[in-house]
Amino acid sequence: MSDFVHPLMSHLLVGANGAGDVVLKNVGEADFVSPFWSWFVIAITVIGFLFCILLLITQLKARTNKAGEAHVQPHEWDETLQEYNNPLPRWWVWMFVITIVFGALYLWMYPGLGAYKGNMGLIDPAYKDGWTEQKQYDVEKAKLDATSKPLYDKFAGMTFAQMAEDKAAMQVGKHLFLNNCAQCHGDAGTGGNGFPNLTDGDWLYGGSPDVIKQTITAGRAGVMPAHGDILGGAEGVNDMANYVLSLSNSAHDAVAAARGKDKFAVCAACHTAAGTGSLSDPTGALAAIGAPNLTDKIWLHGGDMKTLTETISKGRNKSVMPAWDKLLGAERVHVVAAYVWQLNRGDDGKVKNPEK
Ligand code: HEC
Ligand code: HEC
Repeated sequence: MSDFVHPLMSHLLVGANGAGDVVLKNVGEADFVSPFWSWFVIAITVIGFLFCILLLITQLKARTNKAGEAHVQPHEWDETLQEYNNPLPRWWVWMFVITIVFGALYLWMYPGLGAYKGNMGLIDPAYKDGWTEQKQYDVEKAKLDATSKPLYDKFAGMTFAQMAEDKAAMQVGKHLFLNNCAQCHGDAGTGGNGFPNLTDGDWLYGGSPDVIKQTITAGRAGVMPAHGDILGGAEGVNDMANYVLSLSNSAHDAVAAARGKDKFAVCAACHTAAGTGSLSDPTGALAAIGAPNLTDKIWLHGGDMKTLTETISKGRNKSVMPAWDKLLGAERVHVVAAYVWQLNRGDDGKVKNPEK
């Protein structure tokens, strides 16, 4: 963002600081370069007020000729049309008065008169140096954190299996999921093109509590390198795509697949020799690569010939899972991770993911 900010935009700049808190940048606030402009604004505002009061007073004068009789203007239209000039209705006058009083009180409490900071400190000591949007946000967030802290403290001491059975924990977890994760993984966590399904028991990185927490805390960015050139162009890619299809017993050209199989060693480095994905590597050395299982008909990007050709020739590096440690904090990650962990259940309703 450029450093120049138009004063009118000052209320609109919302960003996130390192700690994940929303920062309302009140750049316009009392940023007067010289006292002259402060007094200029004060003068215009005060003159506006005085004008309103004057206007009210001049309009309050009764204009009746005789008591109880309406004042008739000295002109007529269309031979019979006369114009009355009645005093302002009382309700209207009172609205006007209330508006002026409200305006005056508002300007006394809030920073609206030039560089004057207002008196909100009289109501809440937190604003003793004057009210700002940022301060109000901080005060409200501190209150909220104070009420939710005991709850998160309680969850922090619970295992995932315990939280999965705890209605309050799952409610909070679902709430966090819908607010932060659903836009990519779907409301139900079933994912979409390029965004993994979190409910199908098929994991890129793993479904144990520790691994899910690690995924959410630090983020993930699985990279499938481009292999078009390595495989010798379109034909080699086509052979390999057929071999990939054969791995999951999907319809394929067997002759082409046989040629592809000969070159699969370059893929095995990440997907393993059997193509069952980096998680299936018995040494555990590949676990963090996140190369999908190619034998299970579950596709992250797609299992049709066109998509496979594209994946293999050009690679995939846009599927990025953001890191949430700063935005959510450890205690919220703990709860939303438990919510994700229990999304995957068998027919008996029991959670299928490992507890360790
Ligand atoms: C901007 C989109 C986006 C958001 C928001 C997002 N994710 Fe992800 N997430 C992804 C992508 C993409 C991947 C796959 C990363 C890869 O392929 O390496 C992923 C992977 C994961 C995985 C690993 C799945 C596996 O098979 O191992 C988990 C768990 C996960 N996300 C949970 C969450 C949770 C919980 C949230 C909310 C706090 C969240 N995600 C928010 C895009 C997102
Ligand atoms: C450096 C490790 C690495 C190598 C080598 C590699 N892959 Fe991948 N592959 C990945 C990763 C990581 C992903 C997941 C990408 C993502 O998160 O979007 C992936 C994704 C894929 C997909 C998409 C699967 C789906 O579910 O949509 C296919 C197909 C694939 N790889 C095939 C291959 C083939 C064929 C080769 C060899 C020619 C190969 N890969 C080589 C790491 C690798």
